[in-house]
Amino acid sequence: MKRIMLCTLIENRTIAEDTLLMVLKADPVALADFEPGVFVNVRIMDSDSPLLRRPISVHETDIEKGMLKLIYKVVGEGTRKLSEKKTGEIVDIFGPLGTGFPIQSDAKSVILIGGGVGIPPLYELGKRLAEKGVTVTTVLGARNSEGLFCLEEFGTLGRVVTATEDGSHGVKGFVTDAIKAEDIDFDCLYACGPKPMLKAIDIEYRGKKEGYLSFEERMACGIGACYGCMTKTKDGLKRVCKDGPVFSLGEAVYE
Ligand SMILES: Cc1cc2nc3c(=O)[nH]c(=O)nc-3n(C[C@H](O)[C@H](O)[C@H](O)COP(=O)(O)OP(=O)(O)OC[C@H]3O[C@@H](n4cnc5c(N)ncnc54)[C@H](O)[C@@H]3O)c2cc1C
Ligand code: FES
Repeated sequence: MKRIMLCTLIENRTIAEDTLLMVLKADPVALADFEPGVFVNVRIMDSDSPLLRRPISVHETDIEKGMLKLIYKVVGEGTRKLSEKKTGEIVDIFGPLGTGFPIQSDAKSVILIGGGVGIPPLYELGKRLAEKGVTVTTVLGARNSEGLFCLEEFGTLGRVVTATEDGSHGVKGFVTDAIKAEDIDFDCLYACGPKPMLKAIDIEYRGKKEGYLSFEERMACGIGACYGCMTKTKDGLKRVCKDGPVFSLGEAVYE
């Protein structure tokens, strides 16, 4: 059930270039509803601009400890104000929102493909798949090594391969190049990242593999009411915030 949660800020620290990890103390009962791939709308300020909440994916939940982790990149006013929040402050979040990654598949081996701020939601997913005994390989991409984060965390789940556009870490090129260069075999893929990356993955693997892509479109209400996040799919226009953000391979129609 989605609800407003008033969480206490435990940690808000830089983990990569302009990228912060926010750890929140949250109601364990509410956290039980958080499936991998969902997001929350974070209220930035009590009043003033920016008025809208900002959508941030859930990186990890720990129900026993009542802990919720978000990872976000500072790109504008909202995320800058978020980065200024201090330990002990109350952070108002609304969620869980969206339809997350399906994990009921019979896949024995999966590949998680993350680019930039698309990396965070894949961790909770990978954790749950690894707990089920699925072999998890993670491929993380960024422009350069400074844009990569959570390598050690994903390393606890299985093999980690990286791709950077300037070749400063791992394979030189895009995540799709790394999958081929490292000859990674898998039954099912899960990806989150910039649209050009998702499009390249979709074109390469649709009709060949089972797979799910999470789109981080710009949003307003985040609950399906304003129709401000419509995206073209083969079944017509859909709301990324409510029908997604996760769509199957072959479902999205690209401009
Ligand atoms: C479902 C979903 C999950 C997300 N998860 C995360 C996450 O886990 N971590 C994270 O860092 N960010 C995530 N984002 C993106 C995040 O919501 C935006 O970066 C944030 O809202 C920017 O707010 P701002 O006020 O700082 O910047 P603004 O002032 O609103 O924008 C600053 C710049 O960023 C661009 N921008 C803003 N939002 C997006 C977007 N969604 N896609 C592409 N460009 C954008 C704007 O066009 C502008 O150029 C997610 C977005 C969605 C929709
Ligand atoms: S953001 Fe309002 S319908 Fe999706």
